[in-house]
Amino acid sequence: MEVIIKPDYQQMSAAAARQIADVLNRKPNAVLGMATGSTPLGLYRELVRLHREESLDFSQVTTFNLDEYVGLPVTHEQSYHYFMHENFFKHVNIPRQNIYIPSGTTSNFPSFCQWYEQRIQDCGGIDVQILGIGSDGHIAFNEPTSSLSSRTRLKTLAKPTIEDNARFFDNKEQVPIYAITMGVGTILEADEIVLLANGKNKAKAIAAAIEGPVTSMITASALQLHPDTRVYLDEDAAGQLQMREYYDWVLKMKPGAPKA
Ligand code: PGA
Repeated sequence: MEVIIKPDYQQMSAAAARQIADVLNRKPNAVLGMATGSTPLGLYRELVRLHREESLDFSQVTTFNLDEYVGLPVTHEQSYHYFMHENFFKHVNIPRQNIYIPSGTTSNFPSFCQWYEQRIQDCGGIDVQILGIGSDGHIAFNEPTSSLSSRTRLKTLAKPTIEDNARFFDNKEQVPIYAITMGVGTILEADEIVLLANGKNKAKAIAAAIEGPVTSMITASALQLHPDTRVYLDEDAAGQLQMREYYDWVLKMKPGAPKA
């Protein structure tokens, strides 16, 4: 894991966007794994800026979103379909037919989940997966005790997640209880992973994910098994890391490291 700590949210988002832009410049038809939530909004804003001002091209890109609430129509303002359209897709030039988001309204969840996994394979796998982290250490909706080799499936949300997400709804009762989510095993198959976290309320989960044991109690800790994960943090989210000095040292020494 490479841990990149920036002074604030804006600089954290810009650094992560640079990694995504580098992937697209190297591979214009890359497959991007997308995340929702408040964390990646700055990253999406920066990618939109790069598209408008620096001609970053998405015309050959394919995307797969991590998850979706069960039961919300795609027009619901809190559905992840709506979120992605409003915050990213309508501002860039990804062909509509290249956008995949799990269906929260399918009539057959097991067969939809199987189809979704197959589509990822058929598109060549995910080149770079964007992730946020829940305050309980989850990635996508892989709540504590999710199998670390899980695949796309229906999941019952944990109470802390429902409480965290209640801020987007009129009240807690309106937060869906079920979601469809890529599994930890699905996520680990991405070539590169970009994990983002900002704010004090993520500091404990981030320290556990990066420096704690690999455990299904903190599904983000499974990223320790991934060979190319970069974690982008602001100072607040980095606040409980024990090895902070080492991470800064690694980045400082990187330009001088022997090239392969
Ligand atoms: P957030 O959610 O970005 O809104 O904090 C992250 C998550 O639950 O994965």
